[in-house]
Amino acid sequence: MSSSGDWAASEAARRRTFAVISHPDAGKSTLTEALALHAQAITEAGAVHGKAGRRGVASDWMEMEKARGISVTSAVLQFAHRGCVLNLLDTPGHADFSEDTYRVLAAVDCAVMLIDAAKGLEEQTRKLFDVCRHRGIPVITFVNKWDRPGREALELMDEIEREFRLKPTPVVWPIGDAGYLRGLIDVRQPGQMLRYTRAPGGAHKAVEAPVPGQRAVLEDEADWSKAVEELDLLRVDGAVHDQEAFLTGRATPVFFGAAISNIGVRLLLDAIVDLAPPPGPRELESGGARPVDAPFSGLVFKVQANMDPAHRDRIAFMRVCSGIFERGMTVTRAASGKPFATKYAHSVFGQDRSMVDIAYPGDVVGLVNATALRVGDTLYAEQAAVFPPMPTFAPEYFAVARPADLSRSKQFRRGIAQLDEEGVVQVLVSDLRGDQAPVLAAVGPMQFDVVTARMAGEFSSPVKLEMLPYHLARATDTAGAEALNRSRIVQGEALTRIRDKAQLALFPDRWQAGSFEREFPEARLDHLIAAH
Ligand code: G4P
Repeated sequence: MSSSGDWAASEAARRRTFAVISHPDAGKSTLTEALALHAQAITEAGAVHGKAGRRGVASDWMEMEKARGISVTSAVLQFAHRGCVLNLLDTPGHADFSEDTYRVLAAVDCAVMLIDAAKGLEEQTRKLFDVCRHRGIPVITFVNKWDRPGREALELMDEIEREFRLKPTPVVWPIGDAGYLRGLIDVRQPGQMLRYTRAPGGAHKAVEAPVPGQRAVLEDEADWSKAVEELDLLRVDGAVHDQEAFLTGRATPVFFGAAISNIGVRLLLDAIVDLAPPPGPRELESGGARPVDAPFSGLVFKVQANMDPAHRDRIAFMRVCSGIFERGMTVTRAASGKPFATKYAHSVFGQDRSMVDIAYPGDVVGLVNATALRVGDTLYAEQAAVFPPMPTFAPEYFAVARPADLSRSKQFRRGIAQLDEEGVVQVLVSDLRGDQAPVLAAVGPMQFDVVTARMAGEFSSPVKLEMLPYHLARATDTAGAEALNRSRIVQGEALTRIRDKAQLALFPDRWQAGSFEREFPEARLDHLIAAH
């Protein structure tokens, strides 16, 4: 019998933990459903998607979720494909875009960048890609909606290369322009076309059939020749898949398809199995790394609080990083050195929670009653480990918070401090306003709704929020803070973060930040994205 280290390593080797990064409406939920349809779903954890009326909208823990029909909670979908276990972590988008969206990326080994063929790279995709790049997460690209008119394939390749300094290396190439899809070429089998036809009986899964190149030429010479020429051009330009370049974030293998008709989805799924990396050693704060066959360790990447207001419930989402997690085991919380009992570990989030008995590196476990756990926490057994702290992300929304009822200011301060510690929002102190009226900073506006709901419900201190007209934060130094005070052209504020004392300069937009920089070249303004 193999040791538990070998067991963990062999289970890790067949896991792929990934997220889809995209802009709203690119087709993330359609793709998720298509992937699950092709693969064999093991568990469907919570909501696949956060749109009302769609299948799988699971969480209605908070009233505001009900009101808006969106899910606050990241969902995890686990499915099997060709002997591998795939963990797909949802990255909340739309109005629920928040720091949690970014934090999910701390728990994945790969990302699928989903692009709308007609729109190319869009804002949220760019933001999420920046985080992937910063964290060294390899990215597979899927160009979606090729069944309807869109841009030229080569033009999209150019855009990726130019804007992301990322070499697109097509593994699959479309035959026919967007909107006139004849089939796909798998560049590893260049002599044939893959043709898709609707499945009989209205089933969703399109039937994929190989057609020899000679026949494809006869059927549609112009489209076939154009595709072959484009591929030649790309090959000459060095756009050939290189696993090393992909894993080190210099290149992205590219796929085309139409998630809605399941076109190209099987090829993407195969790529996740064949190209995406399995869980590997995880960097430790002290230097070095924790290999997957070491004793159990896990990283808490998200804490969802107050899911069940009656119980003050709190669930921590933990990714297993090394070893084997067994429900009931007592683990140590690195930050406090205190034991944490894992009696209530679940594999399913949302209302249909089900117990998880065992989990391996790459898997995500929901720990219920996790009041002691915080985002960024390391849990371990036997051999101590501490993973680097969760990065903070550049906030884009700012609001001054005040207690609605001044007689509750003690509860107000306690609540705000707690939410800050949990990472629900970032809490800043303004030199102008003092700590009686902290400035809350968020990546997405919905984080403020969570604050409002929890302050009223949990801390009995309703808050009044006054939105500030800033949308850009830069880290600055003393010279920068002084310049801000002197600046007449910019309505900026120098702020001091409570936790790490970094000075933040806030601007309404990047043009204002730009003119400030020109006026005060001595002031340092650093980007905050994923700053440690
Ligand atoms: P999201 O999660 O990224 O926000 O996107 P979602 O899957 O909800 O897809 C957004 C819209 O794009 C949906 O249309 C969906 O049907 C459509 N879509 C997704 N993939 C494809 C594709 O491959 N081809 C085409 N032509 N459309 C696609 P909708 O009208 O907004 O919603 P619905 O009424 O169809 O659900």
